[in-house]
Amino acid sequence: MGFTEKQETLVKESWEVLKQDIALFSLRFFSLILEIAPGAKNMFSFLRESEEIPQNNPKLKAHAVKVFKMTCESAIQLREKGQVVVGETTLKYLGDVHVKSGVIDPHFEVVKEALLRTVEEAVGKDKWNEEMKGAWAEAYDQLASAIKVEMNTNP
Ligand code: HEM
Repeated sequence: MGFTEKQETLVKESWEVLKQDIALFSLRFFSLILEIAPGAKNMFSFLRESEEIPQNNPKLKAHAVKVFKMTCESAIQLREKGQVVVGETTLKYLGDVHVKSGVIDPHFEVVKEALLRTVEEAVGKDKWNEEMKGAWAEAYDQLASAIKVEMNTNP
């Protein structure tokens, strides 16, 4: 079965919740990434420089927002076209920036876990369910897969 309108709506609705406190959820997202994979800290320029996770760091926020937002856009594309299409320039840049930062395929699972837990906390136990989790997971996996293919393609 393809990506349904219901799934798209679930992702869009929870992105709206995340948007209401980007500073808080960005921070939470990074805390979870480092909780799951403490070694990931050194890949991020803005984390390398400090002992603790910096509060209100624009780069930290930018990365979190990109992951949240691009996953939401992927959900829309999956429902509309049945696949995730990232523009060639964007995809090349994404492949490049991650390879250069030392990111490898298994890191995408870490970020996925952190993303799902962040959304769960943001929407709350009452609204979070398997269907919402599945929708985010599917949209993220398809996006991550496009980035990984690009990362593993020689220039
Ligand atoms: C940089 C997006 C997954 C680590 C970036 C940038 C974007 C981006 C757009 C460029 C800088 C910016 O605009 O903030 C994404 C998306 C992902 C993803 C959409 C998944 C769907 C990951 C994963 C890791 C990672 C799995 C590793 C745990 C990094 C690092 C940088 C970066 C280390 C360089 C940031 C810096 O040092 O300033 N990412 N990313 N990303 N990403 Fe990702």
